[in-house]
Amino acid sequence: MQIYKVGGAVRDRLLGRAVSDIDWLVVGATVEEMQAKGFRPVGADFPVFLHPQTGEEYALARTERKSGRGYGGFTFHASPEVTLEEDLIRRDLTINAMAEDDQGNVLDPYHGQEDLEHRLLRHVSPAFAEDPLRVLRVARFAARYAPLGFQVADDTLELMRQIAASGELQALTAERSWKEIERALMEEQPQVFIQVLNDCSALQELMPELHCDADSLAALVQAAKHRQPLHVRWACLLDRVQPAAIKALNQRFKAPRECQELAVLTGEFSGRADAGMALEPSGLLEMLQKFDVYRRPQRFEDFIVTCEMRALGRGEQTYPQAEYLRGAAATARAVNVKPLVDAGLAGQALGEALKNERLKAIEAYQRR
Ligand code: CTP
Repeated sequence: MQIYKVGGAVRDRLLGRAVSDIDWLVVGATVEEMQAKGFRPVGADFPVFLHPQTGEEYALARTERKSGRGYGGFTFHASPEVTLEEDLIRRDLTINAMAEDDQGNVLDPYHGQEDLEHRLLRHVSPAFAEDPLRVLRVARFAARYAPLGFQVADDTLELMRQIAASGELQALTAERSWKEIERALMEEQPQVFIQVLNDCSALQELMPELHCDADSLAALVQAAKHRQPLHVRWACLLDRVQPAAIKALNQRFKAPRECQELAVLTGEFSGRADAGMALEPSGLLEMLQKFDVYRRPQRFEDFIVTCEMRALGRGEQTYPQAEYLRGAAATARAVNVKPLVDAGLAGQALGEALKNERLKAIEAYQRR
């Protein structure tokens, strides 16, 4: 059997980028031989194994045929006769379809190195269409390598367009799509992900609620520039989306709770935050209560930062509301419940009294 390093590890080494995990390809071996060497099979259907010591993934060379719609519809054909070239040709992009042997020689039957030089994301063969997730993958790679000048090849974009038009994207599971969205959002230029999806008309299949103009993406651009975490980026992406559509997007991709909450709360309250000093104390307090700023102060902080990214996206130089809102939150949090309890208040009466004290404190804060 021969063992090759494949995929992202080869690509990123040639690009001079850090290599995170290594995928290995095994040619000329059977499942039984792998098991005899102590490799542990990963799943029942996939001819993939984990190395007994390193835990790295070793996949048997395989060809793939499509037997139905969606991801569950794959059948794999792995056998010792499948050659390196046959395995590589069914991969997504030429820059991902290179292999490296144990001498460090790069085997590159589909000219991935040339495309690396020309900064092109190009599909290897029509087999690209076997997995619609690749439309999202290509958009994600475009976002990741945009700082290096990479672009999607014209014929690849055309193929992505055909996949989008076929309706196949609808068959992707929320989990697979979200993984790509999440990783794309964490790239340096996440807006490129949205732009490429838009260019091939996949955006209207996946997230028709979004707009792709510069204004709509400006908050996200700022969030990436300021290295904000995922949930802030997600809320920024949904900046100009209507509340009902925010909920629909959250649910469609089963976004993590933190992302969902921040996007919904931002949709509901960003207007009040932007009003800043002009906001009535009662409206300000209501917002703080809705955020449960007493038990979840970080969530309100994330919201402030999200509003700040939106403002920078609108071209404002600073967001003085941020400090004002932080001060208001600290003021409300500082109200001490003990004197009220000591005065014998309990239950609903205590809640009302506490709210009153907080309102008074915020009024004083606003007048200061
Ligand atoms: N691959 C593919 N089609 C997919 C997923 C993966 O052809 N839908 C192939 C590509 O050759 C890819 C390799 O499997 O390089 C490994 O996939 P993965 O680990 O998901 O991605 P990487 O290319 O390693 O990229 P990343 O840096 O994003 O992990």
